[in-house]
Amino acid sequence: MNETIVKLDVEKIRSEFPTLHQEVYGKPLIYFDNGATAQKPQSVIDAVAKYYSKDNANIHRGVHHLSQVATEQYEEARKIIQKAINAPTSEQVLFTKGTTDGINLVAYSYGQLLKAGDEIIISEMEHHSNIVPWQMLCERQGCVLKVIPINEKGELKMDVFESFLSDKTKLVSVTHISNTLGTINPIKEIIEKAHVVGAKVLIDGAQSIQHAKVDMQELDCDFFAFSGHKVFGPTGVGILYGKKEVLDSMPPYQGGGDMIAKVTFEKTTYNELPHKFEAGTPNIAGGICLGTAFEYLNNLDMEAVHAHEQELLEYAESELKKINGIRLIGTADKKTSVVSFVVEGTHPFDIGTLLDKQGVAVRTGHHCTQPLMDIFQIPGTVRASFAFYNTKEEIDVFITALKRSVNMLL
Ligand code: ALA
Repeated sequence: MNETIVKLDVEKIRSEFPTLHQEVYGKPLIYFDNGATAQKPQSVIDAVAKYYSKDNANIHRGVHHLSQVATEQYEEARKIIQKAINAPTSEQVLFTKGTTDGINLVAYSYGQLLKAGDEIIISEMEHHSNIVPWQMLCERQGCVLKVIPINEKGELKMDVFESFLSDKTKLVSVTHISNTLGTINPIKEIIEKAHVVGAKVLIDGAQSIQHAKVDMQELDCDFFAFSGHKVFGPTGVGILYGKKEVLDSMPPYQGGGDMIAKVTFEKTTYNELPHKFEAGTPNIAGGICLGTAFEYLNNLDMEAVHAHEQELLEYAESELKKINGIRLIGTADKKTSVVSFVVEGTHPFDIGTLLDKQGVAVRTGHHCTQPLMDIFQIPGTVRASFAFYNTKEEIDVFITALKRSVNMLL
């Protein structure tokens, strides 16, 4: 660990997350399901309450005071997020329902610019939300889907990726970090190589932005999608970042209020970015409070967060390896704080259920990556995913509970 990194004050951080301080079945809750959704700091919870108790009004529509207050807060949140991800302008930061919505927006809208025979590249470790929209697009438009294979550690086979690239490649859509394996993909290299053949690149950032700073201008990706609820904000809101010239070239995703410039029965013209892609009344409270979540994150030292989470990862992996019959799924050289595993002779669901009874919340199953489970020839995994508010002491409790669960099942 870099000596110059300031240690996180984890106890202070934990005091800001009320959900963490409760009992489940008479045991202190240990929340290791951050890959599914993260807990919320008090500031975000307060912001939700404040919005609905004082500021609730529709945005971009009213001349009245409350509507202006809500509009200003919503647009201010967009700017906070723009700065946090270093997008060149706030009009390139589109509010969506979440990562799935962002990817579907691109598949539907950018997809209309594609034709039969055009190729789209994804990878074997993608979440269903970064597989199915492309399959649907291929069915609609006759495009061809190519899938980058992984090695046994759960890393992309970059030589195969390079062999896929040609002037037929129109889009590469890969995850920054695998939700199931924790693998951190070399997205900068992927973006650079895809751009050489003129392809656009979408990065699924659902599992990355809560672990490290991302910089849109430095990455140079064409699209970046993520969800609010995984970055300590509300559910039902997310962001799709896009390059301006690419977004400008795309037709609208949905029609309705706010996305139009002028409607007549003969012809409708569309609004400017970002509104062109934001039809209908959005999740206003969600957007505003996602801004609050980013304000919270802005006050954290993300290098210290990274160091703490890596310490948790290394500790959890070394303790898990001491248990007989454990098989870690996802052993990439570069990983985030996710441990997925199976225990010989047991089913992940049974382990998860027994852990729950001991107060430990993990996710079990295929994690919306069924093709990946097929590749590893397993029905699912037990997944513990750590956030910066988790501790080594919690991992000790988890390991003891896991050993007890395995003993009960074998
Ligand atoms: N995609 C989320 C997960 O990995 C829900 O759990």
